[in-house]
This record gives sequence, C-alpha cells and structure tokens, in this order.
Amino acid sequence: MTNPPVCDYTDSDYQSSFWDEGGRAYEDAAEAIALKHLLPKNGRLMLEIGAGAGRNTPRYAGFERIVLLDYSRTQLEQAQARLGASDKFVYVAADAYRLPFADGLFDGATMIRTLHHMADAPKVLAGAARVMQNDSIFILEFANKQNLKSILRWLLRRQSWSPFTREPVEFVKLNFDFHPRTVFDWLAEAGFVVEAKRTVSHFRLGLLKRVIPAKWLAAVDGLIQPTGEWWQLTPSVFVRTRRVGQTHAFGGAGVANLSNSEVIFRCPECGHSPLVQKEAEVGCPACGRRYEFRDGIYDFRQSV
Ligand SMILES: C[S@@+](CC[C@H](N)C(=O)[O-])C[C@H]1O[C@@H](n2cnc3c(N)ncnc32)[C@H](O)[C@@H]1O
Ligand SMILES: [Zn+2]
Repeated sequence: MTNPPVCDYTDSDYQSSFWDEGGRAYEDAAEAIALKHLLPKNGRLMLEIGAGAGRNTPRYAGFERIVLLDYSRTQLEQAQARLGASDKFVYVAADAYRLPFADGLFDGATMIRTLHHMADAPKVLAGAARVMQNDSIFILEFANKQNLKSILRWLLRRQSWSPFTREPVEFVKLNFDFHPRTVFDWLAEAGFVVEAKRTVSHFRLGLLKRVIPAKWLAAVDGLIQPTGEWWQLTPSVFVRTRRVGQTHAFGGAGVANLSNSEVIFRCPECGHSPLVQKEAEVGCPACGRRYEFRDGIYDFRQSV
C-alpha cells in the first residue's frame, strides 16, 4: 500500500458532538489520568499526531513546544481557537503517513484516538519512529478489539468477528480495532520498547455513566488502569514506549546539539531537509516544491 486512504475530518464537528456535548466526560477524565502517569514531566519538542481540536494538548504543557499535526485543517483551526495564539504551539496540516519533519527531531510524541483510522498502522508507526530521537518517549493509544463487550457479544453470537484473532477489524469504514499483541509487535518492529501499559475506560457503560459522577468513575478507573500491565480487556489501551536504535540525528552532529525547540521541516515529496521558510510558504531547495503557510497553519498535504 503506497498511499493508504485518509479518514478525512474536514468540517467535522467531532470535538463538540463527540466530547463537549457527547456525554464523554468520564472517558476524557480517565484519559487525562492515564496521560498524567505516562507523560514525561518535561521535554523540548512534542509531536501530537492526529491532534484534532487540541483536546489533549494542554496536558503536554511540560514541553517547551508542541507541534499539532492533523490532516484536517478545520480541526486545527478549532485547536487554534481553543488554545489561543502562542509560539508554544505549531500547527501542521499533513498526512501522518508522510510526516514533514527531519529525522530524529522530537523528544516526545503522542498519538491518541488516531491509530484506529489507520489502514496501514505499521507504516504510520515507522514514520513516527523516524522523526523521534533516540531514547525519546512515544505514547500511543489504540482501540482494543479484545474488550469485554466484544468478547461477550461474540460469545452470544451477536458479533461475527472473533475478538481473539490477531488481525485488525474494520467495524466501520476506516475505523479499526486492534489486538493488543499485534500492536505490541508492530511497535517493536518500528523500534519502540513498551515501558508501561494502562487499560482505560473500564466503565464505558451508559447506566454507570448516568448514575455515578464522571470524576468518581474516572478516579476508580485510574486506580485499576495499571492492571493493563497484565491483561487488556478495556476498549482503550495506552502504552508508553521508548524509541531505541535511532541512528539518524538531524544535521549529523547528534541530537544533543538540538538545544532549542526549533521545528525542522522535511519535504514530504522528496525527503530533503531543511526547508526554507518565506512569509507565506516554505520551499524545498531540492525539488522546488512549495508548501503553504496561512493563518498560522503549515499545509503539507499538497504543494502549491
Ligand atoms: C478521533 S480524532 C482524535 C483527535 C484527538 N487526538 C483527540 O483524542 O481528541 C482522530 C483525528 O485523526 C486525524 N487523522 C485521521 N487520519 C489522519 C492522517 N492520515 N493523518 C493525519 N491525521 C489524521 C483526524 O483528522 C482527526 O482529527
Ligand atoms: Zn522536495
């Protein structure tokens, strides 16, 4: 698969319909707890892959700078509106399969609720590994096909696919659930060592969510999230991984020389880096392609 399809969120009201008014305060709070335990306390430059409207971005405040990457420009516009204008945030519209950054650039990255849109998950994980420096931390959330509800449905013959087999299941077009073992294997192949696992959203049940305040439910969820080290039966799994074996370092002089949080772009078409920034665009000196920079958003989805 050279160009995997993209699940396009252009003009989607995902943040307001799914989160702000979607009755998911519990899931949001449970994710905040997982992230608090898994994130490094501070860092230089964080990449958020599939940032959406920036729901999680304030949780990465320990990093000097955060790059929000999303295919949807309208999601990034919503993130700008939520987070406000600040040099701390860099907005990049690009395809996660073709990350427009120099090798070994980031010392932290996350990908939350985004892998489940990837028809070629190993490809996107390999790309994340390329842009991360050696020893950096990558936090991945994935949708787990082997969750209690799907096991029950399968046992009751109300679901055709087995939750126990290793292949992903595409339950809606470009929406995939994964088997944990498969994701762990992909991470290892890409050059990530899993350091911690947390199972999240144990109580994703309408009745419980209606009668118990979201904060309490999330607090109990937080207490049992560490059981994810031994088994994973929740619909959502968070893992903290460490990038190992990265031999590429930007500039060839070693990542230790990257003392500031400058974002160094790489041409998604020809692979050349660095690119040259002009006022309303960045240009590739190698292939001549130019990419738009408009209203604070870099757009690498196509050249102008
Ligand atoms: C379910 S939303 C999650 C947003 C955010 N991470 C959150 O948890 O609130 C998935 C996001 O992934 C983005 N996305 C899907 N496919 C992508 C791709 N190939 N490249 C970049 N972003 C992608 C979508 O535009 C969308 O904003
Ligand atoms: Zn180029």
